[in-house]
Amino acid sequence: MGFSEAQEELVLRSWKAMKPGSESIALKFFLRIFEIAPAAKPMFSFLRDSGDVPLENHPKLKAHAVTVFVMACESATQLRKTGDVKVREATLRRLAATHVKAGVADAHFEVVKTALLDTIKEAVPEMWTPEMKGAWEEAYDQLAAAIKEEMKLAA
Ligand code: HEM
Repeated sequence: MGFSEAQEELVLRSWKAMKPGSESIALKFFLRIFEIAPAAKPMFSFLRDSGDVPLENHPKLKAHAVTVFVMACESATQLRKTGDVKVREATLRRLAATHVKAGVADAHFEVVKTALLDTIKEAVPEMWTPEMKGAWEEAYDQLAAAIKEEMKLAA
């Protein structure tokens, strides 16, 4: 099934509404990831190495969260335009290497997906519908599939 213009619009519209609050949304996204999978925490070197600095003071944590959101938005646009997700090759190779090195496995992508959907639902409850959930899921799944594929080559 193709990705429609309406689906792209749902993803982009909700991200636009979340963007001004991305700082606190990023933090919630991470707290949710670690709530579902506490074992994922030591994978993040900047959390491991910095003692008990509170989570909200980690700029890299925010960067990761925002990147996941932004790349999922880009995926939505690509899916609508071409029916496929293509991450720029150099970026994809770097992403694959980073995630392999950090010990990220397929199951973690599911954790991050659940945390992402929970976070959006909580951030824009008035917009949240099954259609919006489906559009984000599809955009994320296709992006995750591209990264996981490249990770197999990098492993
Ligand atoms: C690093 C994106 C999923 C854990 C990164 C970086 C980006 C990124 C852009 C920065 C480093 C680089 O560019 O190579 C994404 C996207 C994801 C995703 C777009 C999903 C579509 C995940 C998942 C996990 C994870 C599922 C595991 C829970 C990490 C870790 C790092 C990292 C541990 C290294 C952080 C550090 O120690 O500096 N990711 N990521 N990522 N990601 Fe992800």
